[in-house]
Amino acid sequence: MKNKIRLGILGGGGDSLIGIVHRIASNMHDNYEIIGGVFNPNFSENVKFGKEIGLNENRIYQDYEKMIEEELKLDKSERMEVVSILTPNFLHYPMAKKLLENNFNVICEKPMTTTFEEALELDQIYKSKKLTFAVTYTYTGYPMIRQMKEMIKEGVIGEIQRVDLQYYQGWINPVIHNENKRSQTWRLQPDKSGISCCIGDIGTHAFDMLEYVTGMEVKELLSDLNYLYDDNSMDVDGTILVRFSDKIKGVIRTSQIATGEENSLKVSIYGRKGGLKWEQENPNYLYHLSESEPLKILKPGHDYNSDFSRISSKLPPGHPEGMFDSMANIYNGVAREIKGKKEFEGEYPTLNDGLRGMLFIEKAVESHKNGNTWVKLNRN
Ligand SMILES: NC(=O)c1ccc[n+]([C@@H]2O[C@H](COP(=O)([O-])OP(=O)(O)OC[C@H]3O[C@@H](n4cnc5c(N)ncnc54)[C@H](O)[C@@H]3O)[C@@H](O)[C@H]2O)c1
Repeated sequence: MKNKIRLGILGGGGDSLIGIVHRIASNMHDNYEIIGGVFNPNFSENVKFGKEIGLNENRIYQDYEKMIEEELKLDKSERMEVVSILTPNFLHYPMAKKLLENNFNVICEKPMTTTFEEALELDQIYKSKKLTFAVTYTYTGYPMIRQMKEMIKEGVIGEIQRVDLQYYQGWINPVIHNENKRSQTWRLQPDKSGISCCIGDIGTHAFDMLEYVTGMEVKELLSDLNYLYDDNSMDVDGTILVRFSDKIKGVIRTSQIATGEENSLKVSIYGRKGGLKWEQENPNYLYHLSESEPLKILKPGHDYNSDFSRISSKLPPGHPEGMFDSMANIYNGVAREIKGKKEFEGEYPTLNDGLRGMLFIEKAVESHKNGNTWVKLNRN
C-alpha cells in the first residue's frame, strides 16, 4: 500500500506480552503497514510467526543486524521507514543505536536502554540526524490524560502544590517467592532488565506520566526500595519522594508485590484551585475536584475537551476506548510527525522522555543504595 508508512518490528512475537498491542495499535489509524522484522531469536519460530501475520518470508530476518543490512540494499521506496523495538530491555540500546546510525525512524519500548550512559549516547546520535524517535510510555496516549495535561497548562487547577502517582501491580508476588520462577523471569535478571525491576519497569511509567501531565521536571528524589530477599538484586517495590521545588512536592508509589493488584496506575495532581485525578483501569473518567464547586467528571470525545484530547478519541462519547487505542495515539503522533501534520506538544513521548526515564531509574537506585538520601536529577 503506497500511502502507508512501512513498519518493521523487532521482538513482539507470538510469545510476547506487548507485541499484539503494537501490531493492533499501528493499524488503528490506517497509517502503517507491517512489512517485516525479527520476532523471535529462534529462527524457525520467527519465520513461523512472521508468516502467521502475513509477511513475505524474504522480509523475516535472522537478526536485527541482518535486517538492517538487507533493508539498506532495497530502494528507499520499499525500505522500512520506522522500526519498533519490542524486545527485552537489554536489546533496546544496540538495536536503536544501529537503526539511528542507518537512518531509520524508531519507536522503542521503555525503559529506553539499560543505563543512562547508553541513553546519552542515543541522544547524541539522534541529535546529529533528522529522525523521529518515540518511547512508548503507552498511557500518555489516553484522551483524558491529554485533557489533564491541557487543563494543567491552562491553569484550571492553579499552581501545582502536591503530586501523587501510584503504580501498583501484584504479578511478581507469586514469582518472587518461588526460586525457580524467579530465575526464569527476565525482568528479575540484571543482564536482561538493567539495574532495576519495579522502578525500571513501571516506576518509569509513573515518572514520565508525572512530567508529562505537569509539563515540569522533577529536580530531586529520595527513594526507599524493597528487594524482599537478600539474594535478589532487583527491586520489586519502591516509594519515592519527589520535589519539583521547595514548594512543589509529592510521591511516586510503585510496587509489583501489591498482592492482587492488576495494573493500578493512578495520577493525582493538586493545585491551589483544585485537583485532577485519573485511573488507568477506568481511563474514561477524569475527576476535577474544586473547593468552590461540586466534583466534575469529564469523559472523552465531548466538545468541552481540548482539541488535543479530542483528536485522541476515534468515536463519539460513550464508546469506551482503552490501552490499544492509547498506544495507537502514540503511533498516530509519530505518523503525523513523519507526514508533517503534528500539531500538539506531547503527541508521542520523545527520546528526551526516554532519557529522563533512565536518569530517574539510576537516581532512584542510587538514592536507596546511599541509605535513602536526597539526590538531584542532574545529568552528571
Ligand atoms: N509500554 C508498556 O506499557 C509495556 C508493557 C509491557 C512491556 N513493555 C516493554 O516491552 C518490552 C518487551 O516486553 P514483553 O513483556 O513483551 O516481553 P516478552 O518477554 O513477553 O516478549 C519479548 C519478545 O521479544 C522476542 N525476542 C527476544 N530476543 C529477541 C531477539 N534477539 N530478536 C528479536 N526478538 C527477540 C521474544 O521472542 C518475545 O517475542 C520490554 O522492554 C518491556 O519493558 C512495555
